[in-house]
Amino acid sequence: MNAPAIKHYLQFADFTADEYAYLFERAALIKRKFKNYEKHDTLADRTLAMIFEKASTRTRVSFEAGMYQLGGSVVHLTTGDSQLGRSEPIEDTARVIGRMVDLVMIRTFEQVRIESFAAHSRVPVINGLTNEFHPCQILADIFTWIEQRGSIAGKTVAWVGDGNNMANTWLQASEVLGFTVHVSTPSGYEVDQSVAGLRSPRSYKVFADPLDACRGADLVTTDVWTSMGYEAENEARRQAFARWCVDETMMRAARPGALFMHCLPAHRGEEVAAQVIDGPQSVVWDEAENRMHVQKALMEYLLLGQQ
Ligand code: CP
Ligand code: NVA
Repeated sequence: MNAPAIKHYLQFADFTADEYAYLFERAALIKRKFKNYEKHDTLADRTLAMIFEKASTRTRVSFEAGMYQLGGSVVHLTTGDSQLGRSEPIEDTARVIGRMVDLVMIRTFEQVRIESFAAHSRVPVINGLTNEFHPCQILADIFTWIEQRGSIAGKTVAWVGDGNNMANTWLQASEVLGFTVHVSTPSGYEVDQSVAGLRSPRSYKVFADPLDACRGADLVTTDVWTSMGYEAENEARRQAFARWCVDETMMRAARPGALFMHCLPAHRGEEVAAQVIDGPQSVVWDEAENRMHVQKALMEYLLLGQQ
């Protein structure tokens, strides 16, 4: 008998709309149980290895706490304290770790690095952020939208800022779940459709002026001007991005009651005004908390399938 194919979660397009519908429902149940102090230990005796080649607060805590709550345990590795930092090939690391744990989460640089790991892993691999994508964050963001407003299909999301991993993932999500993204980036920092892995340009519109991108949007979102790994470009980016700050004028151009999201960490006064991120339309703390609930549903799904 052939072993069932391993499912990885390396980019948002890896799952269908039906799989997302299941995950969002399951995450809601898991969150309800967590709030009621009800045990939900479907991954008892399972082990998650987390490999961080970049810094993290939310991703580490949400996966680690989430796995313990599911009854499992966690191994935490970084480049600096593992042989990865001494040039052990990623393929060999994958072969070894997959023999000892049930699931792997990786935060790293190029997407090809996590793809090489997954190709040599006999256990599921989750993308905890790469230069190109951040699918777990968008999973949490869309779950947060659904909690607040219902289905995201047909809605408009305004992306103000860098054409980075978050922008690419919002764009992939718009193709899978049927919504529109208004994208405004400074020139030289545009989204690249082939890097974002999009099927067509139909689900997004590009705006030179960030204020125009926000007009009529149901959700306005942004991210840091300089992502991890691009620190050498910091000064050039500070100048190029000066007008890409989500402020109250931009929020007023959006639909009344529009939500503001940010994956965090945030820099008040750079990509977002303090009045917006700390204001009534902001749901950033829910987004952060929801990382844990959706990732518990994700880990359970990758290991056990639909319950
Ligand atoms: N949003 C997010 O992934 O945060 P961390 O970098 O703290 O994990
Ligand atoms: N775009 C940011 C997201 C951090 C969670 C980065 O890659 O650094």
